[in-house]
Amino acid sequence: MSSPALTTPVVIEHLRDALGIGTAAPRLTWRTETDEPDWTQSAHQIRVTDPGGRILTDTGRAPSAESVLVPWPGPPLASRQRATVSVRVWGGARDEPADWSEPVTVEAGLLHPGDWTARPVTPDVTAPQGPLPVALVKKAFTVTKPVAAARLYSTAYGVYEAELNGRRVGDEVLAPGWTSYRHRLRYRTHDVTALLRPGENVIGALLGEGWYTGRLGWDGGRRARYGPHRALLAQLEIHHTDGSTTTVATDGTWHWTTGPLLRSELYDGEEYDARHERPGWSSPGRDDDHDWRPVHELPPPTAELVAPTGPPIRRTETVAVRAVHTTPSGRTVLDFGQNLVGRLRIHVTGPAGHTVTLRHAEVLEGGELARRPLRGAAATDTYTLRGGPEPETYEPRFTFHGFRYAEIDAWPGPLDPACVEAVVLHTDLERTGWFDSSDLLLNRLHENVVHSLRGNFLDLPTDCPQRDERLGWTGDIAVFAPTAAFLRDCSGMLAGWLRDLAAEQLARPDRSVPLVVPDILDPPMADGAHALWGDAAVLVPWALYRASGDLRLLRTQLPSMTAWSAKVAERIEAGGGLWRDPGQLGDWLDPAAPPDDPAAARTDPDLVATAYAVHAADLVAEACRLLDEKDEAAHHTALAARWRAAFTDEFVTPAGRLTSDSQTAYALALRFDLLPDERRRRAAGRRLAHLVRRAGFRIATGFAGTPLICDALCDAGAPQLAHRMLAERHCPSWLYPVTMGATTVWERWDSLLPDGTVNPGQMTSFNHYALGTVADWMHRTVAGLAPAEPGWRRIRVAPRPGGALTHARATHRTPYGIAEAGWRIEEGRLVVEAVVPPGTRAEITLPDTGETWERGSGRHVFSVPYDAPPWPPSPIGHPFVPREPCDCGTPEKGTP
Ligand code: BGC
Repeated sequence: MSSPALTTPVVIEHLRDALGIGTAAPRLTWRTETDEPDWTQSAHQIRVTDPGGRILTDTGRAPSAESVLVPWPGPPLASRQRATVSVRVWGGARDEPADWSEPVTVEAGLLHPGDWTARPVTPDVTAPQGPLPVALVKKAFTVTKPVAAARLYSTAYGVYEAELNGRRVGDEVLAPGWTSYRHRLRYRTHDVTALLRPGENVIGALLGEGWYTGRLGWDGGRRARYGPHRALLAQLEIHHTDGSTTTVATDGTWHWTTGPLLRSELYDGEEYDARHERPGWSSPGRDDDHDWRPVHELPPPTAELVAPTGPPIRRTETVAVRAVHTTPSGRTVLDFGQNLVGRLRIHVTGPAGHTVTLRHAEVLEGGELARRPLRGAAATDTYTLRGGPEPETYEPRFTFHGFRYAEIDAWPGPLDPACVEAVVLHTDLERTGWFDSSDLLLNRLHENVVHSLRGNFLDLPTDCPQRDERLGWTGDIAVFAPTAAFLRDCSGMLAGWLRDLAAEQLARPDRSVPLVVPDILDPPMADGAHALWGDAAVLVPWALYRASGDLRLLRTQLPSMTAWSAKVAERIEAGGGLWRDPGQLGDWLDPAAPPDDPAAARTDPDLVATAYAVHAADLVAEACRLLDEKDEAAHHTALAARWRAAFTDEFVTPAGRLTSDSQTAYALALRFDLLPDERRRRAAGRRLAHLVRRAGFRIATGFAGTPLICDALCDAGAPQLAHRMLAERHCPSWLYPVTMGATTVWERWDSLLPDGTVNPGQMTSFNHYALGTVADWMHRTVAGLAPAEPGWRRIRVAPRPGGALTHARATHRTPYGIAEAGWRIEEGRLVVEAVVPPGTRAEITLPDTGETWERGSGRHVFSVPYDAPPWPPSPIGHPFVPREPCDCGTPEKGTP
C-alpha cells in the first residue's frame, strides 16, 4: 500500500522567496511526493487568498497534468499586493486528492516606475577620485502610529548594506549585485516590520563603490564606468493599522559621513580601521551627529528598476583552516584545502592601531603565495585594531577574493588557526545535480566543476573570481550553461543576466552581442561579432529551456536571439557565404596555442565561426517553431541550410576530411550535422577516432571543441575512446589538474605545469568553469541521465558504461522531483537503476542491446549479462595505471 501523495509548497516563478516579485502574474510550480508507482496528476486546484484569508481565486478541480510553470490563475497582482497560494492535486490509480500544499506567500514589488518617490542620493558633490572610503548614509524619522507592516525597497549605484535602528536589513552580500546598470538596476524588497519601533527610528546604509564606480577591467582598468556618483535609492513604506502609509524615501534630507572602511574595492580589497568605527550610527540617539553632512539628490534613475528573478549573493559556508605553513621566506600562510570564493573572517586581539594584513592567492609556487596570476588585483585586506582585551571580529564588506591560501602578516602574537575562517560567497542557488562513480579522481573532477560553478556564479556568470577581470564573458557561459543548469537551479539568475545581454545588445547600433555582459570593454574589444561568445544569446536561453521547459523565457529572449542571427547573417554575407571576420577567438585555449596567444588554435577560426552560425540558426529556427513564429522559423531554417551547404563546400573534402584536420573540426562537423551524407559522416567519425588515438587520448580541443568531443566520439560509434580520454591523466587532460591537486577547474589545461610552476601566460586562472563542460557528458552519458524533452517531463536514461569504471550514478532534482540514473557491474552483469519522479515518464535504454523500456514514476532496476568493452590501447605508450587520488579538498557542503 503506497502512502498518500503530498504536494510540496508552491514555487513562484524560479524563486524560493517571492517577496517583492516583479511579475504581476507569476507562474506556479509544485511537486508531488508519493511512492505510488506510475503516478500521474489528473487534476489540480489552486487557491489564492488575501492576507485576511479571503479567497481571491479558486480554480476548483481543474483537469490538468501540468504542475510546472502553471499560469497565474487569477487577476494580475497590483504593486505591493500580497497573496497566499495553496495547491492540491488529484492523481494516481485511485484518482484521490492529495492534501493541500503548505501555503506560500507572494508579494508584488513596485511594478511601475511611478511607484517610486525616492531619489538617488549621493555623498559625492563632484566626481571624486577613487578609491573612496565607504560612506554611511542615514535619516532619522518618527513613527507616530501603530504599524501593521513595513517594506524597504532599496538599491544603489554601487554596493550597499541597509540598517534600521542598528540592525542589518536582509542577509545579502554585495547588493544589489551587478546588472547592466545603464539599462537595468535591480532593487530588493525587505519586510522590516519587526525592526521598527514607536517613536524615533533611524534608517541608514553603508555605501561602497562596487562595480558602479569602482575599478573594472585589466591593464589598470577604469573607474566610474557607469557614472561619477555612488548613490543610495531607498523607499521605506510603513503601513499603519489605520490604513494610512508613511513613506521615508531617500532625498536631500538624508545625511552622510564616513566610518572605519577607508577603502573597499572589488579587485584590490579593503582597508578597515576599527578606530574609526561609529558604534550605534544607525540607532536612534546613539551617534554623535556633528560631522554628518547633507547628501546630494540626483535625478531619478533612467535605468529600469527591476525586481530580482533569482536569489542574491549570500554567505553559504565557512571553511576552517586546513593547514598552517611557514613559507621559505618566513611568512605565515593558511591553507583552506579548497580553492573558494569569498573572504576571511578573523577574530583578533591586540593593541589599538596595530594592522593585520591578509593577502590571498589560489596556489603556491615555490612554497610562497603565487600572486602573479592575480595580475592587477591586489586582493589584500588590512585590519587596524581598535584595541582592548576583547577579541575583535572583522570580515570585509564590499570585496571578494578567489583563494585557497591566505598569507597573514603581522598577526599580534601567536596565530591560533581557529581565529581565521574563510567565508564562502556566491549566488545562493539551490543545488540540483550530483554525480558519483567508482573513480575517485573522476569524482574529484566533478567536484571541481561544482566548485568552479559556485565560485563563478557571483551575481552573474563570470570567467574567473580572482584576477582583475571577473567579468561576464559570454563565451564561457555559452558553453557551460547546460552543465550549470544540471548542477544548480540557475534559471532565475541566468534569466536576469539574459535580460542584461539583450538590453546591451539591442542598444548597440550594430546589434552585436558584447563579449562581456554587463559590457565594460573599451574598443577594439567592445566592437564586432564573435562566434561562440555572441552565440550566448542563443545557447544560454536554449540550455535553460532544455533544463526548465520555460517557454516564456525563450519568448522573452527571442528578439535578442533573432537579432544575433541577423548580425551573423550580415557578417556571413560580407564574407561571401562564410563567416570570415578577423579577430575571432575561435577554439580559444586549444592546448596547442602558445601561452601568450590563446586564440592561435589548430582549427581554422572561420570553420569554427561558420559551424556555430549553423548551429545557432538551427536552434533559433527550433525556438521559432516552438513559439509558433512560422515565418521566422522558415527564415532561419533556410539560413541554416544555406550556411551548411557553404560549410560543406569550403571545409569538407569529397572524402569526408575537414580542411582543419583537428579534433575540434570533426567534433563540430559531427555534432552540428555539417556533413552532407552518411559516407562522409562515417569517414569523419573514423578520422576523429584516429586523431584521438594519435594524440594519446590527451586533450587537443579548446573552448569550442571541448564541450563536444565526447559526444562526437559517441556519434562516431567510439564511446570507449571518450571514456579513455576522460581517464587520461597526462597533461593536457581533464584529470591532469586533479592529479596536481586542483580543487577547481583551471582556465588552462596546464595552469600549473607538471614541474609545479605556474603557466607563464598572463592569463592563468585556477578557477574557470569553461573547460568543465565534460561534467555534462558525465551526467548524460556516463551515468546516463538527461531530459528526453525540455523540462524533464520525459526523461532519458541511457548509460554508457566504460573505461575502468564499475559504477556511476547521476541525480538531478527535476522540476517534478528527484530523477536518478545509475549502474554497477556485478558478477558479469550490468545492473541499471532509474528513479523516475511522479508525473514523468522515462525511456530507459540499456547499452549494447539497445533495448528501450518506457516506465512511469518509481524505482526501476534492470539486470543484463555484461562484457566490459576492451580498453583502447594507447599508441604512444601511456599505460593506464589506476591510482589513488591525491588529497585535494573537500566536497561541497550538502553533497549527499
Ligand atoms: C577570459 C576568458 C574569456 C576570454 C576571451 C579571458 O580573459 O578569462 O574566459 O572568454 O578572455 O577573450
